Amino acid sequence: MADRFPPLRPEDPQQIATYALRARLGSGGMGNVYLSFSPGGYPLAIKVVQRTFASDPEFRLRFRREIAAAQRVQGYYIAPVRDAAPDDEMPWYATAYIAGPSLQAAVAEHGPFPVFSVYCLLAGAAEGIAAVHAAGLIHRDLKPGNVLLADDGPRVIDFGLAQADTFTRLTGTGVAVGTPAYMAPEQVRGTVSEATDVFALGHLALFAATGHNAFNEGSTDALFYRLLNDPPDLDGCPGELRPIIVSCLAKDPADRPSVGEVAAFAGAEIRGQTTRPAARAWLPRPVAESLGDYSADNAPPSGTPAERATPVPSADLAAAPGHSAAAPAPPGYLAPRRAPHRRRRRARLRRRPHRRCQRRSGRAGHDAAG
Ligand SMILES: Nc1ncnc2c1ncn2[C@@H]1O[C@H](COP(=O)(O)OP(=O)(O)O)[C@@H](O)[C@H]1O
Ligand SMILES: [Mg+2]
Repeated sequence: MADRFPPLRPEDPQQIATYALRARLGSGGMGNVYLSFSPGGYPLAIKVVQRTFASDPEFRLRFRREIAAAQRVQGYYIAPVRDAAPDDEMPWYATAYIAGPSLQAAVAEHGPFPVFSVYCLLAGAAEGIAAVHAAGLIHRDLKPGNVLLADDGPRVIDFGLAQADTFTRLTGTGVAVGTPAYMAPEQVRGTVSEATDVFALGHLALFAATGHNAFNEGSTDALFYRLLNDPPDLDGCPGELRPIIVSCLAKDPADRPSVGEVAAFAGAEIRGQTTRPAARAWLPRPVAESLGDYSADNAPPSGTPAERATPVPSADLAAAPGHSAAAPAPPGYLAPRRAPHRRRRRARLRRRPHRRCQRRSGRAGHDAAG
């Protein structure tokens, strides 16, 4: 089993706001992604922006605006943004941690998906994109690396962050927002609409079914030429998937189906094959079997230096047996944003444990009697 949770490197921050970082999940153009947990144990993927971009006011402006918009997106097949601090010294945002590989990684590791899995992928991703559109956003960078595969369906990530992300790749001068291999014709020409994400949905399905892109690899110029002029390369694509993929990949956005139509079509295909849409067996077996490796339970144990260093400055706690005074903050440590609130709450809980228990058991007794 490959180690899905590489440890932090010496140059990594150990803590971001109140979150102790536990492992590296990966790195992209904008910055690194780390695994962490909320105080109650909810797993999070925290993306921390690189210092070079953080110091650029234009980047900050885009990032702040896009994060605020992304926080409005509500849906089942997305990784929701749970927390963010675009104005921190190192800006960051946290999304729900999804325990599974990206479509890109899964196909690279295990090969193309069977037709049923492609329909499930398409139905879920289209529903996720519909949620993004419902919040008034266009994804603009839907691609196999931005779809994660959970045991109960796909999750779209990185929605609405394309402008800040592109800034990191084009140093603010380019107009083409997106990843060249997955862009739509109109996107290359500088406009986007909801249909741009439909084009990407068709591309996702083709990649999942065949393991290759619609306009193949090569220089960006050659890629854009084929994208604008040639039909998509459907080599190896099963016949039943071709009509939906070809219609999504239409050059003219007006000729593509709507996101709702793609979701409805794929959903109907799933229901034609199983009584439970997107039941647990939606993934090819080897991919499904790999999911356990991605469980956040496999994260390196807590009690890392960062967590030991979490300040607990309340006098009575520090004096209590088993508690030592807070260690000096590690490098890269940022002032915890919620510590005062948590501290007050902890102190309140310590003062009144019996009353709380009595009240709770009283209520339970009442409920049972009723
Ligand atoms: N919510 C999440 N849950 C689990 N893993 C995530 C999440 N968000 C990002 N990742 C992982 O972090 C890695 C880097 O993500 P990202 O910075 O978006 O890369 P890229 O720039 O290639 O899009 C990806 O490989 C992805 O698997
Ligand atoms: Mg990404």
